[in-house]
Amino acid sequence: MMFHRLAAVPVVLLWLGAVLAATPQPSSKCQRKCGSIDIPYPFGIVHSPDDDDGHCTMNGFGLTCNETGIDGGRHRPFYGDVEVVGVSLQQGQARMLNDISYYCYNTITREMDRDEWWLNFVGTPLRFSDTTNKFTVIGCETLAYINGDDSNHGDDGDYGGKYMSGCVAMCRGDDVRSTLSNGSCSGIGCCQTAIPGGLQYYHVEFDSAFNTTEIHNVSRCSYAVLMDSSNFTFSTTYVTWPVFMNNYGSQAPFVMDWSIGNETCDVARKKPGSYACVSDNSECFNSLNGPGYICNCSKGFHGNPYLQDPEHGCKDIDECKLPQLYRGTNGGVCRNRLGGYDCPCKFRWKADAKAGTCIDHFPLAAKVVVGTIVGILIMVIITFLVILHKEKRKMAEFFKKNGGPTLEKATSIEIYKYEDLKSFLKRNNLIANGSFGEVYKGLLENKLVAIKKPINGTVRENEQFANEVIIQSQLIHKNIVRLIGCCPEVEAPLLVYEFISQGSLHNILHNNNNKVALNLDARLRIAAHSADGLAYMHSQANTRILHGDVKPANILLDENFAPKILDFGISRLLATNKQHTTSIIGDVNYMDPVYLQEGLLTEKNDVYSFGVFTYKLDHPLNVFINS
Ligand SMILES: *[C@@H]1O[C@H](CO)[C@@H](O)[C@H](O)[C@H]1NC(C)=O
Ligand SMILES: *[C@@H]1O[C@H](CO)[C@@H](O)[C@H](O)[C@H]1NC(C)=O
Ligand SMILES: *[C@@H]1O[C@H](CO)[C@@H](O)[C@H](O)[C@H]1NC(C)=O
Ligand SMILES: *[C@@H]1O[C@H](CO)[C@@H](O)[C@H](O)[C@H]1NC(C)=O
Ligand SMILES: *[C@@H]1O[C@H](CO)[C@@H](O)[C@H](O)[C@H]1NC(C)=O
Ligand SMILES: *[C@@H]1O[C@H](CO)[C@@H](O)[C@H](O)[C@H]1NC(C)=O
Ligand SMILES: *[C@@H]1O[C@H](CO)[C@@H](O)[C@H](O)[C@H]1NC(C)=O
Repeated sequence: MMFHRLAAVPVVLLWLGAVLAATPQPSSKCQRKCGSIDIPYPFGIVHSPDDDDGHCTMNGFGLTCNETGIDGGRHRPFYGDVEVVGVSLQQGQARMLNDISYYCYNTITREMDRDEWWLNFVGTPLRFSDTTNKFTVIGCETLAYINGDDSNHGDDGDYGGKYMSGCVAMCRGDDVRSTLSNGSCSGIGCCQTAIPGGLQYYHVEFDSAFNTTEIHNVSRCSYAVLMDSSNFTFSTTYVTWPVFMNNYGSQAPFVMDWSIGNETCDVARKKPGSYACVSDNSECFNSLNGPGYICNCSKGFHGNPYLQDPEHGCKDIDECKLPQLYRGTNGGVCRNRLGGYDCPCKFRWKADAKAGTCIDHFPLAAKVVVGTIVGILIMVIITFLVILHKEKRKMAEFFKKNGGPTLEKATSIEIYKYEDLKSFLKRNNLIANGSFGEVYKGLLENKLVAIKKPINGTVRENEQFANEVIIQSQLIHKNIVRLIGCCPEVEAPLLVYEFISQGSLHNILHNNNNKVALNLDARLRIAAHSADGLAYMHSQANTRILHGDVKPANILLDENFAPKILDFGISRLLATNKQHTTSIIGDVNYMDPVYLQEGLLTEKNDVYSFGVFTYKLDHPLNVFINS
C-alpha cells in the first residue's frame, strides 16, 4: 500500500493563527499571479507553506508559487503540495488537481498493483465541494471505497467525519465491450457517488475481492478518484485502455469550497477586528458547506469584497456597457446607477426595457385619431391666426381712414385701443340708445366715462373728422361735455366722453320714474348755463363751432343739475345710415326753417334751436311730432 501525505500539520498551525489575529489588509505590492493563474486575496503567495508574512494572504490561504519541471519551467501555485488551477471569489471555491488512484493487474508479477491516494484538508478553511465533486470509479470488476474517516491514518486520529462509502463498477457478459456505452456513468464500467458536505479528508481503498486478474487482457486497471463531475463524460475506452489516466494526466480536477472563520455572518459581523467583508457594497453569506462565511459584492457591484481599498474592492458595474445585460434598442434608454441600472422606456413606450419588452403601446387606430385631432387643432389655430392677422390689418386700415395719424399728433386727445374699450360695450353698461347709436358706461383709469358707439356710421372725410375731434377735445368749458378720447381703429370710431351722472335733460323731463322735480330756478339756471356753453362754442377764435342740434336730449345734467352740452359737430360727420346722407341732420322740431330750406348752417340756427329749447324747458308737456 502506498499513501500520499499532505503537509497537513503546518497548515493546521497556520489556520489556528488566522482566527486569533485580526485580519490585516494585504500590501499592494503582493504578487497576485502565479504563472497564468490569478491569486486574489484572501489567497496569496507565501514562500513556503509555513512562512506567512501576513501581508499578502489571510492566514490559511497561503499558496506557494513553484517552478515545475514541466511546461518549460512555468510557475504553478500549490496549496501545500496540491496544485491549484483556479480561485473563484464569487463562488468561494478553488479548483485543484487530485491524483487518480488505480488498481491494476501486473502481467509480470501476476499480482494486483495498488496506488491509493488520500487528501487531508483537516484544519484548513477548505472543504470538498459536495455539489460539484463525485467519487468516480472506473473498471469492469471494481469495488472502491471512499473513506472520510482518517482515524486509521491521521496522526491525531480525532478529526474528520465518520464517513465511508463505496462504488461498484462491473461489466457483464463475456464480451466486455458489447455491454458498454459512451456517455453514461451507470454502474456498467463506471460508477459515481455523491459525497456528504463538510468533508475535509478522504482516502481511496480498492476491495481486493474485486480484481481484474481474470479479465486483464480486456480491462487491466480499475481507477478511483474524487473529482469534479460537472463535465465528466464516460468513454468505453476508459475501461479498455489506460485512456482515463492519460486524458487527465493522472490528475483529475476537483473543487474545494473555502470559507472565512468558523462562525456565521451574524456573529462575525460583530467582530470588526476580524470581519473579512471589509469592502463597501459587500455582503456576507454563510458557507453552505461547513462553518464560516464568504463575502460577495452586492448585486450590481464587482471586485474583491475582502479588500477595503476602493480601487480593488467592490465597484459599481456599468451595466450599460455590458452587451449581454443591456441589449440596447427596444425603445429603452440605459442609465447606469450605483448598484444597478435603469432602462426606462422611451416616451409613449410601455413596459420594462430591462426585460426587453418595451413596446409602442399606442395602437394604430389611436395614432390615427390622435393625429387627426392634432391636425384639426393645428388648422384651427392657423385659421385663428389668419383671422387675427386680418383683423389687425383691418384695424390699421380703419385707423388710417379715420384720421388716426392726425389724431395721434394731438396732445389734447387720448387715442384708445379697441382692445381697451371692447369690454365695456355690453348690454349691462348701455346707458343710452338712439338713432345716433349707443352709449355705454365705462371705467378708464379709475374715471367713469361714456363711450359712444355710432351705428353703422362711417366717416366721410377723415381729415375733417380728425380735425373736428381735435378741436372739440380742446373745448374746455364747464357747460360742455368734455371729449376725452377717441378710438379710430374700428369702422365707426368710438368716442369717449366724460361721464355725466344725471343723464339727459330730455330724460329728466319725460321720465316719470325719475322723481326729479326741476323748479323754475333750476330751469332758469339750466337755460342760462346752456347759453353760456353755446356762446363759448360760438366765440372760438380760429374755428367757429356750431352745434346744429340743440335740444334737451343733447343737454346733460351733472350731479348738481348743471347743464353740459353734448353731441355737436361730429354728429354731422357721422352719417348714421344711408337715409341720412344728406347734410341736414338734426331734430326738425328744433330746427330753424331757414336752415331747412337753405341747408346752410349758421350760428343763427343754433340760436333758433336754443329758443325752442327754452320754450320746451318751460313747457315740457308739449309734445312735438317725432321726426
Ligand atoms: C515548492 O517550493 C518550496 C520551496 O522552494 C518547497 O518547500 C515546496 O515543497 C515546493 N512545493 C511543491 C509542491 O513543489
Ligand atoms: C456572488 O455574486 C455573484 C454575482 O452576483 C453570484 O453569481 C454568486 O452566486 C454570488 N455568490 C454567492 C455565494 O452568493
Ligand atoms: C482476485 O480475486 C479472487 C476472488 O475473486 C481471489 O481469489 C484472487 O486471489 C484475487 N487475486 C489477487 C491477485 O488478488
Ligand atoms: C466511445 O467513444 C470512443 C471515442 O471517444 C470510441 O473510440 C469508442 O469506440 C466509443 N465506444 C462505443 C461503444 O461507441
Ligand atoms: C483473454 O485471456 C484469456 C485467457 O486468460 C483467453 O482465453 C481469452 O481468449 C483472452 N481474450 C482476449 C480478447 O484476448
Ligand atoms: C471540462 O470542461 C473544461 C472547460 O470547461 C475543459 O477544458 C475540459 O477539457 C473538460 N474536461 C472534460 C473531461 O471534458
Ligand atoms: C472556532 O475556532 C476557534 C479558534 O480556532 C476555536 O477556539 C473555536 O472553538 C472554534 N469554534 C467552533 C464552533 O468550532
